[in-house]
This record gives sequence, C-alpha cells and structure tokens, in this order.
Amino acid sequence: MAKVAVFGYGTVGSGAVEVMVKNAEEIAKKTGVSLEVAYILDLRDFPGDPMEDKVVHDVEVILNDPEVKVICETMGGVNPAYTFTKRALELGKSVCTSNKELVAAKGPELLEIAKANNCSYLFEASVGGGIPIIRPLLTCLTAEKIEAIQGILNGTTNYILTKMSDEGADFADVLKKAQELGYAEKDPTADVEGHDAGRKIAILSSLAMGQTVSYDDVYTEGITKITPVDFAYARALGLQIKLIAMSKMTEDGNFALVTPRLLDAKSPLACVQDVFNGILVTGNMLGDSMYYGKGAGKLATASAVVGDVIEEAKNEGRTIPVLWKAEKAAVSNYKDLSQQYLVRIAGTDEAAALAAFPGGKVVKVAEADNEFAVLTENMKECDYDAKAAGLSVISMIRM
Ligand code: HSE
Repeated sequence: MAKVAVFGYGTVGSGAVEVMVKNAEEIAKKTGVSLEVAYILDLRDFPGDPMEDKVVHDVEVILNDPEVKVICETMGGVNPAYTFTKRALELGKSVCTSNKELVAAKGPELLEIAKANNCSYLFEASVGGGIPIIRPLLTCLTAEKIEAIQGILNGTTNYILTKMSDEGADFADVLKKAQELGYAEKDPTADVEGHDAGRKIAILSSLAMGQTVSYDDVYTEGITKITPVDFAYARALGLQIKLIAMSKMTEDGNFALVTPRLLDAKSPLACVQDVFNGILVTGNMLGDSMYYGKGAGKLATASAVVGDVIEEAKNEGRTIPVLWKAEKAAVSNYKDLSQQYLVRIAGTDEAAALAAFPGGKVVKVAEADNEFAVLTENMKECDYDAKAAGLSVISMIRM
C-alpha cells in the first residue's frame, strides 16, 4: 500500500483523489500498486466531503509522517508550492505536479534535489493536461533528435479562436462566454496574452534540449488583437488562425516563441478545435508525431497526475531520470526566424506593397474597406520589418 498526500484540494487535487479512489481496483490490477490517500493539505475545511477526515492544515504533519512516500502537488503558483516541494524532496518523498508555473521556474533545481535524495519529481500534467507528452519525450522519443515542437497548449485561447472562426464573433464577446463556461481563468491574462502557453513551451523545449529554456526567453504574443477581419482574410486563403507555441531547432538557431499563426487547413493542428490541445513533435528519424486530447479540466489533468503517482510508487527509493540541466540553452532572437507573413495594409496601393514584397499574393475581402492584405514569401522577421517599414501596415500575422 503506497500512502499518498495531496497538497491543494482544488480542481485538480480533488480530481486526483477522485481518480485514485474510483480507479483503485483498475490501478492495482494493472500496476500492482495500491494507493491510499492518507492526507489532504488545504487551508480550508471540507465538511460533508467523503475525504473530510483526511484534511490537515499543517504541512509538517505530512512531512513528519515517514510512511508518506508520494505527494501530489496541485496547489498552483510558485509559492508556497516551491518551499513545500523542496522540503518533501529533501526528505526523500517523491512529488508529482500539474503546476506549470513552478516547473517552468524551478524545474531543474527540484530535479537535482530529487536525485540527491533518491526520489523523483514528475510533472506530466503540467503541459497538455491529460495528454501524454512529457513521458513520450523522455522515453519513447529518446532515439530522436527533436527538430521542432509546435503546439496548441492553451485550451481557453483555442476555444476563443474556434468560436471567432466559426461564428464571426468578436474576441471580447467570446472571452466573456469562455469565462461564463468556466474555461478561462478569472483573470484571463495568462491565457489570452500567451503566458500560460509560454511556460508550457519553455518546459517542452527544455526537455527536448536537455538544458533550460527560460520562460523569460520565450517571445510571447497573445490573441487579444485578432479580429473578425483577420479571420475573413484567413478564410479567403483557406487558412486557420491558432495560437501556436513553437520550439524550433534550425540552422539559424534555436527558437522558442508563442504567437498567433496561420495554419494550412491540412495541418493536423488546424483540426484541433475548442478547448482541446494538440502537440506536433518533429524528430529527425520519426518525422512528425501528434499528441491530442483534453489539455485542461479536472479529471483529464488529474489522470496525468495519478499516472505520475503510480510511477513514483513503483520506483520508491530510486530516481526516475529526467534530463533537464540548469545550464541555460541559447535561445535565438525571434527576429531571425524565417516564415511567411499575412500583412494587412491600409489604402489601395497594391503596386507599392508588391514592390516591397515581390512574389507576394494580394488578398481582398468584402468584410474590409479601403485595405488589402499580402501573403508574403518566406523571409526572416528582421527582413520583413525592414520591408514593411515603408507601408501603412494595419497588422501582421505569421504563417
Ligand atoms: N488555463 C489553462 C488552459 C488551463 O486554458 O489551457 C490548463 O493549463
């Protein structure tokens, strides 16, 4: 019997308890591991909850119980989750988490502490909710040189963009609906400005490179400026607009960025709709492989947390290896990345636009007066900037 403690009885924490209780028989049959929820740490009480007698308010009760070997940290935020996780690992207790803020900020340090204390730190649920992506990267894809990771890593923004595309709705109206449906956070800034996806691609890039890609080095642009007219241009070209978190290892450098992007309708990521997430990994031998599923939500995320609990219980007394060194990976300036651009230009001077962007394709839509757009050829963003400087650019979306 493996005694487990849960830090934080919110959405994911209560989901993890539900998965452990409901699937106890299934888990034991498949893995030989019997899990017992021994403690739940939370500031609140939960009268009437079947687990109410497991709730404690003092972390020391759990840390001082030598029988607790595995902890699910589902508190969110860097502090006090960082302090509690560090203390637990120093005592040889394995920790697994859905906390992307903490993993992005302190991942390599916590992995080192786990290694020094013969326990493990796992974080499958921190990226893509219930989608298996971290374990595939660390195990199944170890024979690969990862060349690129592109992902729809935020469910809230994908829901908003899907509705804007399907219904021609405005950003602000759909955001309100997303909040009513409980998808968006109360303060949705981290979702809509791309910070949440930025943390997730920083984690995936670090695992792909084995070194730290710092979240601060990820260039991030959100979806707040995308309008129904942008979707009209995209439709005219048979393209979709998605918020794409991208990590690319190219001859021009290693790039990590989050931006709205135009996708060919045939791209597997273009089919990822609503709150779903999708991650496309390109390896030098395998080529593309795609990981798709529920990127958020109570039970989906909890399922990934409990998968880690089982791994840690099975590996008691040893460290499950995760190659992620603290040494910082060099991240190139996003201005050196080559791509195409859909540029909206005010006025009617198509000749001047094509002189700046030779080989570009002019697009016009009924939804916009006194403007047109050009889909450019492939070029570095610094070269695009130089060419666009002489034009009356309304907005630009990368492809
Ligand atoms: N706010 C996040 C999302 C939750 O919408 O994807 C999952 O990390």
